[in-house]
Amino acid sequence: MVKFSGTKDEKGFSWEKDHRNLARYVAAEGMVLMKNTGLLPLSGGEKVALFGGGALHPYKGGTGSGDVNSRATVSIYDGLLEEDVKLVNTKWILEYKDLYEKRRQAWREEIWKAVDDGERPGDEFALYTDHMWHMPMGRDVKEEDIEGIDTAIYVISRKSGESEDRTDAKGDYELSEWEIRNLNFLCDHVENVVVLLNVGGPINVTRFMLEEHVKGILNISQPGMEAGHAVADVLTGRVTPSGKLTATWGTSYEKYPEAMEFSHISKNLEEEVYKEDIYMGYKYFDSFDVMSAYGFGFGLSYTEFMIDVKEVTTDLMHVHVTCDVFNVGNKYAGKEVVQVYVSMPQELCKKEYRRLVGFAKTGLLKPGEKQEVTISFSAKDMASFHEKGDCFILEAGDYGLWVGESLENASLHKLIEVETQVLLEHTSSICKGREEIQTLDPGDKPYGKEQRYLEIAGKANLERIIFAPRPGLYASEEKKEVNPVYEAAKEKAKEIVAGLTREELAKVLCGQPGGRAENVGVAGIHVPGAAGETTGELAHKGIPLAVMADGPAGLRIQTRYEANETTGQVYPLGFLENIEGGELIRSEKRPDCQYYYQYSTAIPIGTCLAQTFDLELLKEVGKMIGEEMRSFGVHFWLAPGMNLQRNPLCGRNFEYFSEDPVVSGLTAAALTQGVQSVPGCTVTLKHFACNNSEENRMGVDCKLTVRNLRENYLRGFEIAIKKGKPLAIMTSYNHVNGFHSAASYDLCTRVLREDFGFEGMIMTDWGTTFFPGKSTPPVDPWRCAAAGNDLIMPGIPADQEGILKGMEEGFLSEDRARECAQRIVAVVLYLTEAQNQE
Ligand code: BGC
Repeated sequence: MVKFSGTKDEKGFSWEKDHRNLARYVAAEGMVLMKNTGLLPLSGGEKVALFGGGALHPYKGGTGSGDVNSRATVSIYDGLLEEDVKLVNTKWILEYKDLYEKRRQAWREEIWKAVDDGERPGDEFALYTDHMWHMPMGRDVKEEDIEGIDTAIYVISRKSGESEDRTDAKGDYELSEWEIRNLNFLCDHVENVVVLLNVGGPINVTRFMLEEHVKGILNISQPGMEAGHAVADVLTGRVTPSGKLTATWGTSYEKYPEAMEFSHISKNLEEEVYKEDIYMGYKYFDSFDVMSAYGFGFGLSYTEFMIDVKEVTTDLMHVHVTCDVFNVGNKYAGKEVVQVYVSMPQELCKKEYRRLVGFAKTGLLKPGEKQEVTISFSAKDMASFHEKGDCFILEAGDYGLWVGESLENASLHKLIEVETQVLLEHTSSICKGREEIQTLDPGDKPYGKEQRYLEIAGKANLERIIFAPRPGLYASEEKKEVNPVYEAAKEKAKEIVAGLTREELAKVLCGQPGGRAENVGVAGIHVPGAAGETTGELAHKGIPLAVMADGPAGLRIQTRYEANETTGQVYPLGFLENIEGGELIRSEKRPDCQYYYQYSTAIPIGTCLAQTFDLELLKEVGKMIGEEMRSFGVHFWLAPGMNLQRNPLCGRNFEYFSEDPVVSGLTAAALTQGVQSVPGCTVTLKHFACNNSEENRMGVDCKLTVRNLRENYLRGFEIAIKKGKPLAIMTSYNHVNGFHSAASYDLCTRVLREDFGFEGMIMTDWGTTFFPGKSTPPVDPWRCAAAGNDLIMPGIPADQEGILKGMEEGFLSEDRARECAQRIVAVVLYLTEAQNQE
């Protein structure tokens, strides 16, 4: 009897409600209060009117493979009504509802027509429909809409997604004329205006942030299916906001150092020169004294905190900072994020002025309560990479230690003296491009800013402590733990793989093409809607099939499918099933089939998760994802996405965590630990490396210094690998300094395995071997394997042929192919055996 994924009960699994509650909780925790001049939380007495398309239809997340199919999203309107917020004038909302419905109907008809015409059958729509849909503007707000109200809540919504970058135009990074008109009108006529930002990344907020009547700005992010509930939790004060920004919100797009070089803006999609070098995000704004609208790490609370640094100690490899955090407010309980930054001496090389090295979040503190937190960071967190010699060096000199609740409000607490220069680590020599990269001249930095912390320290007579890390000890930074079960799986994999023919090796090295489903359109078939599977053709050789499903905003699978329980055939129903509650499917259910339901939980987007800065909470969220994976029979979560948010316009920033590698790395590690606490489940860190723009993502060559690569773009992965110990990594589509990252021996083998000690398997992104770039060919499958990129996904027959050809023609040694196969089989055995145990 075939086991089908999901349940026949339309009500779903018993865990759904609990999981939605956690999604609601984490969403509220990830929201960032950006402005509050005494209005929030609402007292309950206000007479409120609600405006903006997002009020009824907030974006729960972004589009493309990062979109998670779930039952329904709670609207902000419903969320507020449930909390008894007095919405006294809903005329505008009701009219908008009609308008939305009409437009949506037209959109549905467009889809049906295209399906009927056969232009874009089935799942091809997954990529296009979202682009065809634009949230309609409502009519302008009029006097009658604000009659009798004292508070207006205005929702600004933005969405973006895979394969397209955002624009710096009106209606995207900039406000639309419609939004400007309505906000102006509200500010002129209403005492209190609250703006909710339903966005996946920064927009230009300077037009309204300083308006006197805009008394509250809450960045609600794209908060998942529980959007409305979480917004109401924060607005009514049930939850005191404690989220902090993980990226810098500039005062205008041009203020970002790479603004004009980015993606379509530069009109050159063939290459992306990372001219800002190590000065990305806040590292630029801070070092070059450029004002931001809202800076890195910023976020307000309903209460106030005091951070008292009690003790700073060092050991052979780390610095430990212990603080007492007091809630010094008198009304609201709340949580605070303590952030630690360091300034570095700049004799040996120029560096950013400050760099985040660690953070910790308190629990819920009542007024008057305090909590002790300790933040530890390593010598490597303070070091810089030197291309000459390929090494991380901790320069001798005085380092400044800053502690605070945001970058801007951090205060200099101590100097950490490193008496003699320490060579911390030799790395392999990688990704040396042929051309020199023209980077921002740090000589442009304002007068000796790098020295300013020393002046402050001198004036304040700050204490100095000695830090003398031992070279060579860096390797023990994160201790290697041996997992005996995984070791046994590796041994078993070795034996199995030794007995495979070349043809069989080629099957292992590619995902499973086709399968028992009809009309799939996506590769995943055992769990309909999953993105792919490893080969199922070698079960007789002891190699089980494993299933992979996307994230990061939950588990992306079909909400419903049909199954014939006699024949075992499944009919996934395609993309149309996942939108509009399946209403667009016009065909009758097959008479000999059963419906199976797979409702998963849409959690907030990656950025919102990271904005919680709460690693314990993220472990819980990861565990919840793992439980859903196990419940549906998924082994690999194709998440977290941890590319850095290099520029605010990257279409997939919403999936990613931060512009900072420490935040990204620690967030990914916490999610990984959570997912992997459920036996038989792992994550897939992606996209390795530098997938920082979407247009021509298959062909763009990212040109950057190796120092920037090492200190920023690889560092997050390194932290996540060492702390989280994930079992899979996905390469990116783009090129790095002239080489396709999927076929880069430097990146896959030297960096991941030799330098970072990664012990799992690597896979390509979907279609790396068949999607060309604008002017570059796709990658030959054998090149991936030769580089140590083990698995070609999703896998088509041509991939297997390509691998075989590589072996036959001597480009890919059989030994190398066997090593790839061993790694895949070890991970697959380890996961499937654990899931098979009850
Ligand atoms: C995306 C990946 C995703 C994969 C499978 C690709 O288009 O870039 O992030 O995991 O599809 O859906």
